[in-house]
Amino acid sequence: MERSLVLIKSDAIQRGLAGTIITRLESQGLKLVALKMLHLDKAVARRHYAIHRDKPFFEGLVDYITSAPIIAIIFEGERAVEVIRGMMGLTDPAKAKAGTIRGDFGLDIGRNTIHGSDSVETAGEEIKIFFSEDEIFSY
Ligand code: RTP
Ligand code: MG
Repeated sequence: MERSLVLIKSDAIQRGLAGTIITRLESQGLKLVALKMLHLDKAVARRHYAIHRDKPFFEGLVDYITSAPIIAIIFEGERAVEVIRGMMGLTDPAKAKAGTIRGDFGLDIGRNTIHGSDSVETAGEEIKIFFSEDEIFSY
């Protein structure tokens, strides 16, 4: 079964939206197989967002994601990567459709509440950053 890494980002935790966002994803039939709350350090944040290291927004992104705790989750399901990306909506909340998580709760492109893996291959790499095999459950 396909897996995706989701991060409930700092702004969503600070605004008390974690439960709402998790409920939306679970209600879609996605299965929660791993979850932890953590305060990312800058080295791990840089690794997670390494693909963007040359972008002008990179340092701001690292500062933001390390500014408060986040929740890391692995969801499992059929086409989990694509389903979650669809439920998240576009990166910029101003362009994300109503009914999507970012469309409904995102504040701006830097504070867009949620991360989701953008491909099955990326999901595999991201999951290894946040979880060891014994932290992922089968049930
Ligand atoms: P994410 O990786 O967090 O799920 O977001 P995404 O795939 O929708 O967007 P991505 O292109 O991977 O960008 C990662 C995060 O960087 C911030 N960003 N800022 N100022 C800008 O132009 C800009 N572009 C991207 C966003 O917070 C985005 O979620
Ligand atoms: Mg991305």
